[in-house]
Amino acid sequence: MSEIKNYIASNQERFIGELIDLLKIPSVSADKAYAKDVHEAARYVADKLQEAGADKVEICQTAGYPIVYGEKLLDSSLPTVLVYGHYDVQPADPIELWTSPPFEPVVKDGKIYARGASDDKGQMYMHIKAFELMMRNGGVPCNVKFMIEGEEEVGSDNLETFVRANTERLSCDVVLISDTALISLDNPSITSGLRGLSYLEVEVTGPNRDLHSGIYGGAVANPINVLASMIASLHDENGAVNIPGFYEAVEKVSEEERALMAKAPFSLEEYKDHLDIEDVQGEKGYSTLERTSIRPTLDVNGIWGGYIGEGAKTVLPSKAFAKISMRLVPNQDSASITNLFQEHFTSIAPKSVQVIVRPHHGGEAAVTPTNSVAYKAAEKAMETTFGKRPIPLRSGGSIPIVTMFEKVLGIKTVLMGFGLDSDAIHSPNEHYAIANYLKGIETIPYFFKNFTEMNS
Ligand code: BES
Ligand code: MN
Ligand code: MN
Repeated sequence: MSEIKNYIASNQERFIGELIDLLKIPSVSADKAYAKDVHEAARYVADKLQEAGADKVEICQTAGYPIVYGEKLLDSSLPTVLVYGHYDVQPADPIELWTSPPFEPVVKDGKIYARGASDDKGQMYMHIKAFELMMRNGGVPCNVKFMIEGEEEVGSDNLETFVRANTERLSCDVVLISDTALISLDNPSITSGLRGLSYLEVEVTGPNRDLHSGIYGGAVANPINVLASMIASLHDENGAVNIPGFYEAVEKVSEEERALMAKAPFSLEEYKDHLDIEDVQGEKGYSTLERTSIRPTLDVNGIWGGYIGEGAKTVLPSKAFAKISMRLVPNQDSASITNLFQEHFTSIAPKSVQVIVRPHHGGEAAVTPTNSVAYKAAEKAMETTFGKRPIPLRSGGSIPIVTMFEKVLGIKTVLMGFGLDSDAIHSPNEHYAIANYLKGIETIPYFFKNFTEMNS
C-alpha cells in the first residue's frame, strides 16, 4: 500500500495546516465564555468530514454542546467501525506558563504546541485525514461512522442520552478511539485498560466569619488547618488510601500480567528526570507503572481558602475548600466509592467544623480485550507501520464513555492512541509530534483493511 505513504507525503503540509486551523479555535468546554468557539469547532469538524467524503454529516444538538456525526456506508454485509473522538479541550491556564499562546499554534522541533494538540484534536483529526486518504485511494474497505463530541473534558454529560436515542444509527462492530498514548515510536503499545474516576469537592466551615488570627487564633478551629490534616489522614504510612472499604472490590491482577508489565520498556531514571524529581512516591509494593494503571489512587486537585492576595493579612478564615479525585480500577463502582468517601470524610471531621462533600462527575474503569478481531487488526496495523509488534498496556487516564458504549451498544472499544505521556496534555505547553500525527494517519487505513479482511 505505497499509495498511503505517497498520499501522506504529498499532502502532509495541508494535513498539518488544517490541524493548526482547528487548534486556533479555543473550544474550551469547561468555560462558558468560549461557548461560541466550541460551536465553531463543531462546525469545522463537520465541514472537514464532509469535504473528506462523509455522507449524512450532521451537527446534532444536545442539551449541551453538539455531537458531530458522519458516515460512509457501503454494504450491510461488511463490518462497521464507529470512530469516536472529541473536539473540546481543557482550559489553558495557568496561561503564564505557556511559552507560546495556547491558541496560536507553533511548530517547534517537529512538534505542534497548542492546547488540544494531542488531547484530542490532533488524534481525532488523524481519523478524518485517514478517511480522506482512503476515500481518494479506492474508497474505504468497510462501513465507517464518526461520532465526535464536544463535552468529553467536562464528563460527557449528554452523550449517553444521544447514544440511547440513536442506537440504530450508531450500530457497529467496534468503537475505535485515538485519545490515549503509546510508549514511544520505537516501542508501540495499545491501551488495554483505563481507570475510572470519582471526583468531588469538599467545603470545611469553621467560625461564621473570618476572624483576627491573634485575638481568636489557638482557640477556634482553623478550617484550613483542619482540612490539611483531614487530607493528610487519607493515606496511610504505606501510601495506601486510608478509607475503609476503598480496596474491597479492587480486582487482583494476576502475577502473569504483573510480570508482563514489568517487561514493558520503562526507565524510572528518565521518568524522574523528565519531571525534575529526585524520587517517586506511591503505594508500597507496586512499581511506578502499576501505581499509575492497576492501582486506585486519591489526589487533591486544588485547595484554597483564606487570604491569598499580596502581602500578609492575619486572618483565621471561615472556610476552606478542596477538589479531590480518585482514580479507580476495574470492579470499583464510582458511585459507591463516592459514597464511601463522603461517609468517611464526614466521620473524621472534628466537632469544631462543618463539612460538606459535593460529588462531581464520575466514570467507570474499562478493560478492553486483547484477543478480539479488532485488537488483532490494530496490532497488525501498528506492526506494519512501526515495524514492531505493539504490546498491550493499561493506562491511568479515564475515558468513561468506553464502559458506556459497552453497556448501551454492547460494543467493545479499541484504544489505538498515538500520543505520548510526555505530550503535556491538560498542562501548559501541550504538544503533539508531527511524526506521531503522520504515523497515526498512516496506521489507521491498515486497521480498516485488516479489520475488514479478518471479518470475512
Ligand atoms: N484523553 C484523556 C484521557 C487519557 C489520556 C487516557 C491519556 C489515557 C491516556 C481524556 O480527554 C481525559 O482527559 N479524561 C479525563 C476524564 C474526564 C471524565 C474528564 C481524565 O482522565 O482526567
Ligand atoms: Mn481526550
Ligand atoms: Mn483530556
